[in-house]
Amino acid sequence: MGGDTIKVVHTIRDMQSHSRRLRQDGQRIGFVPTMGYLHEGHLALMRLAQAHADAVVVSIFVNPTQFGPNEDFAAYPRDLDRDCRLAEKEGVAVVFTPEAEAFYPPNYQTYINLEALPRHLCGVSRPGHFSGVATVVAKLFHCVTPHAAVFGQKDYQQLAVIRQMVADLNMDIEIIGAPTVREPDGLAMSSRNAYLQPEQRPAALSLHRSLIQAKQAVAAGTRNVSTLITAARVEILAHPQTEVDYIEICNPVTLDSLETVTGPALMALAVKVGQTRLIDNMLLTD
Ligand code: PAF
Repeated sequence: MGGDTIKVVHTIRDMQSHSRRLRQDGQRIGFVPTMGYLHEGHLALMRLAQAHADAVVVSIFVNPTQFGPNEDFAAYPRDLDRDCRLAEKEGVAVVFTPEAEAFYPPNYQTYINLEALPRHLCGVSRPGHFSGVATVVAKLFHCVTPHAAVFGQKDYQQLAVIRQMVADLNMDIEIIGAPTVREPDGLAMSSRNAYLQPEQRPAALSLHRSLIQAKQAVAAGTRNVSTLITAARVEILAHPQTEVDYIEICNPVTLDSLETVTGPALMALAVKVGQTRLIDNMLLTD
């Protein structure tokens, strides 16, 4: 893949007219929304988009409306030149990188709020986060007008929110979930991993380890959710600098908490390792 020079589009109008041309030429548009600082996980999303489309558009936009007041918006890692080179190597046709002032002008007023899904998991400790995500993704969809869009399953709740929004608002866009890409040691890839100090690595790995242990326990017959969660908490808190935000076992569709594992069950967790908030999840049943 690759070879052609990538097109970098900064304005909403240019993106819309470029997409219009692609559609007029009969091209199927695949879309990968990102906040940049691309890693192997993003590249896997791009490859999946290529498989479902003729032209792939990647957006790079650190969206202010999905960060809380005490979160890492200002510190979020950014490197547009490197990102464009990586996207170009993957054969991406367009990088769309709008200005925040153009996306959210001073009189901006419209937000998308889902009723139930944000009441769970990350939505509890990050109020407004999923409104920010749904809103920016809807806006990006209107700029890029994709036929298909790819989101990682690492952000499981985000994927659920996007699927729900697309269904509720009758958007004619295929949403594709991509499996989580992990480092060789099991750490789920994330741009925020760049914040981790080497000595925090074992603590960061305890998220994945605790998920695997829970899955094994379920396979061995453990059904009680509080037993499974306690074991995960013990595993994680055995490491210094860890603070559990949540560990939940829930219905994979509604995200409602479960008390026993009798059918499909998702284990999801969010843990702070030092100042870095990490999330991960795993289906406990096949
Ligand atoms: O997953 C992300 O990187 C962001 O939440 C997204 C989907 C690009 C919206 O800003």
